[in-house]
Amino acid sequence: AIHLRDHTPPAWLIDTVDLHVDLREEAATVRATLAVRRNPNAQGPNAQGPNTPGPNTQGPATALVLDGQELELLAVRVDNRLLGPDDYTLTPDRLTLTGLPDAATVEITTRTRPQDNTALEGLYKSSGNYCTQCEAEGFRKITYFLDRPDVMARYTTTIEAEQARYPVLLSNGNLTASGASATEPGRHWARWEDPWPKPCYLFALVAGSLVHIEDRFTTRSGRAVTLRIYVEPGNEAKCGHAMESLKKSMKWDEDVYGLEYDLDIFNIVAVSDFNMGAMENKSLNVFNTKYILAQPETATDTDFLGIETVVAHEYFHNWTGNRVTCRDWFQLSLKEGLTVFRDQEFSADMNSAPVKRIQDVQRLRQVQFIEDSGPTAHSVRPESYIEISNFYTPTVYEKGAEVLRLYRTLLGAAGYRKGIDLYFARHDGQAVTTDDFLAALVEANGAQVTDPLWAQFQRWYTQAGTPTVSGEGRHDAATGTYALTLRQTVPATPGQPDKLPMVIPVTLGLVGPDGRDLPLTLEGEPEGATGAGATTRTLALTAAEQTFRFTGVAQPPVPSLLRGFSAPVRLAFTQDDAALTFLMAHDSDPFNRWEAGQTLATRLILADVDARAQGGTAAPPQAYIDATAQTLARGGEDRAFAALALALPTEAYLGQQRPLVDVDGIHAARQALRRALATALNGAFLKTYDGNRTDGAFTITPEAMGRRALKNAALAYLMALDDAPARALCLAQYQGAATMTDAIAALALIADSDMAERADCLAHFADRWKGEALVMDKWFAVQALSDRPDTLERVRALLDHPSFSIRNPNKVYALVGSFAANPSKFHAADGAGYAFLADTVLTLDKLNPQVASRMVKPLARWRPYDSIRQQHARAALERIVGTAGLSRDVYEIASKSLAG
Ligand code: ARG
Ligand code: ZN
Repeated sequence: AIHLRDHTPPAWLIDTVDLHVDLREEAATVRATLAVRRNPNAQGPNAQGPNTPGPNTQGPATALVLDGQELELLAVRVDNRLLGPDDYTLTPDRLTLTGLPDAATVEITTRTRPQDNTALEGLYKSSGNYCTQCEAEGFRKITYFLDRPDVMARYTTTIEAEQARYPVLLSNGNLTASGASATEPGRHWARWEDPWPKPCYLFALVAGSLVHIEDRFTTRSGRAVTLRIYVEPGNEAKCGHAMESLKKSMKWDEDVYGLEYDLDIFNIVAVSDFNMGAMENKSLNVFNTKYILAQPETATDTDFLGIETVVAHEYFHNWTGNRVTCRDWFQLSLKEGLTVFRDQEFSADMNSAPVKRIQDVQRLRQVQFIEDSGPTAHSVRPESYIEISNFYTPTVYEKGAEVLRLYRTLLGAAGYRKGIDLYFARHDGQAVTTDDFLAALVEANGAQVTDPLWAQFQRWYTQAGTPTVSGEGRHDAATGTYALTLRQTVPATPGQPDKLPMVIPVTLGLVGPDGRDLPLTLEGEPEGATGAGATTRTLALTAAEQTFRFTGVAQPPVPSLLRGFSAPVRLAFTQDDAALTFLMAHDSDPFNRWEAGQTLATRLILADVDARAQGGTAAPPQAYIDATAQTLARGGEDRAFAALALALPTEAYLGQQRPLVDVDGIHAARQALRRALATALNGAFLKTYDGNRTDGAFTITPEAMGRRALKNAALAYLMALDDAPARALCLAQYQGAATMTDAIAALALIADSDMAERADCLAHFADRWKGEALVMDKWFAVQALSDRPDTLERVRALLDHPSFSIRNPNKVYALVGSFAANPSKFHAADGAGYAFLADTVLTLDKLNPQVASRMVKPLARWRPYDSIRQQHARAALERIVGTAGLSRDVYEIASKSLAG
């Protein structure tokens, strides 16, 4: 494992890189010319840093140890002198050169076979086109290099390829020259120069037969920027939404962060084989097609929103990641947490802010809370890793974004912005740490990192585990005081048995009996103190237990805690059903209105789970049905919000509420509540469905998306009864759907049902969309998520479907990933789901370790299940760990999950 505590500066620096990339069908040849020099700021011993342990001391003897993997070394020259095999040391991971002068020109020629690169890391082919993915450590599969983010260089890249097959040649920066090959007819070349120094993980190259759309953006200081999106021919009509999203992002970053684009060209290339969502390479973003291509007939509203967010995310990285980058990979959240926070706020501004906040919290709870309570729990700034690719996690990204939100909550919007400005003033062009970021934010606001509050705040970076906040309130009618006692605990996580209290901003209101927020005054607070008298205030919970006393509270209020989800914690504050129903109807904070309904539904479902364990059932009280009727009746006020309020907590979320997951009980109880609501409110759901039909022109305004969301939420309830009228409605929607949103919503319900038309509908969909890879992903997903008993059998059969490919990450995520996210099917008591996943992981691991590692994670979380399931899962994991030649990626996750 590699440890943060071992970090040292690089012994050598690289100032310029001149790459010549010669692309041929048999192989790609790369000639890299590196201007290297000893780092005057290096420290010995072991000055090479964590990637190259060894007894190095700084001085003339310090070797230049370059990272390199899966490369065929053809030649090495130092200052034009060709080295013989005795002049260097070569291992599968390193090329070591000794006896160099203090500065030298090192020229290295290597060969790779991109056409055989199924790991999709380094230089590879997708649909016949060449592309690259270097973050985190893929550049070492392109050439020997100091593959660490604190080595920043200026790049010149010359690409040479066959003109007819690869007319488009792209790399970072500006195109400075191009032409036909002087020696070989039919070949051409292009030279790109990037004026901005960058770490090698931001390098990119594309060569292919691509078409593009083009637009323009003029920055506020008057720079005209050419914007291009490159796609495979035939897809050019599907890029408009991505282009609009890019222009909105550029404008928003100027308006909200004061950050402008810094080159005359910005290119995006969409490729269909990509491990992740997208990559922020300097001026040449490479995207998964899923986050670029969209038309109403082929993409859902969720897809449209995802594109807006991811395009913004990658664009925002130009400052938060590229201009200021990470010193080492332990600092990943420096750029990812910050950039996710930025994309979340951007999307909130473009759409409905409360809806976006609820969705972000749902995701956090569904994925990050699970990670934080399992075998791979780690802090936002991890202490060690075996494989860095495994740390592109919900904790680093989503919890990291919550930490950024905490800064803004504590400093206020203006203070946060002052801090950001100082961060860029200090660190532009540097590779820095989360400590540097914290220092800038704190010091810009006249405070010190050693102040107790900020010293304690750093625990958000170092302590893993989701804190729980509990407490109770007490009203004293005689003195008109409301005393709120809050407690916090942070659970033990692997390697971190003991935890200290965190800084938890609790934004709250007290709702009076009339449904209105009370003005909040703390006991002893001087009149006119900051915030005094406001109806929503933020308290900092910093101790294990604290009591806050509010004065001037005549009658017992209903507290509304953690408004806007002001901290990434579990709230265990006891409130009775009546208080929750009251908040559902009256809380001025939309997040907490939604939250109250979720808490109530969670309570009802868990009560039914318990009743079922005793052989009975527990029906929902009339008050809950009435409250849901209210939500439906008020649906027109904010339809997207109403759709979220109607959605019951997921099985994944329900499973986290108890130490042991009752797989079948949760599934049955949740279904039963859906049916109970559908029966009691059938007329209201029908009315909502009819009232939100969306005929006419397609738009993606929040209003129109809200209509579709609410209509489809109603349809899902109606189909919970699976009766003839509901089936007819669902079938009619599928057959008449003008948008993919409506088509797939209906098809998913049909795929869950055993209606006679089921097979025909699925066949019809596959026939209609067999030419559209992204649409076929949806077809695989609805079948893998189906509630029918034969789902695993179907999934196995679909592995052989002509549209499926185990080499394409999107296909694997759609079919295998969806199946692993199907709680009752994946966690089937007979262990067949686990065995299937283990088989698939082992097949995948030979082809693409990053994808295999993502697929093993659902299996790794076996502890909160009963002993029969535990045995099956352990057996599957042991089979994986016992396999010879396993990748580091899968080994790290599987072995950690079996340990301890
Ligand atoms: N930096 C990219 C993004 O978040 C993700 C790259 C992930 N790469 C990887 N090998 N895990 O925008
Ligand atoms: Zn990112």
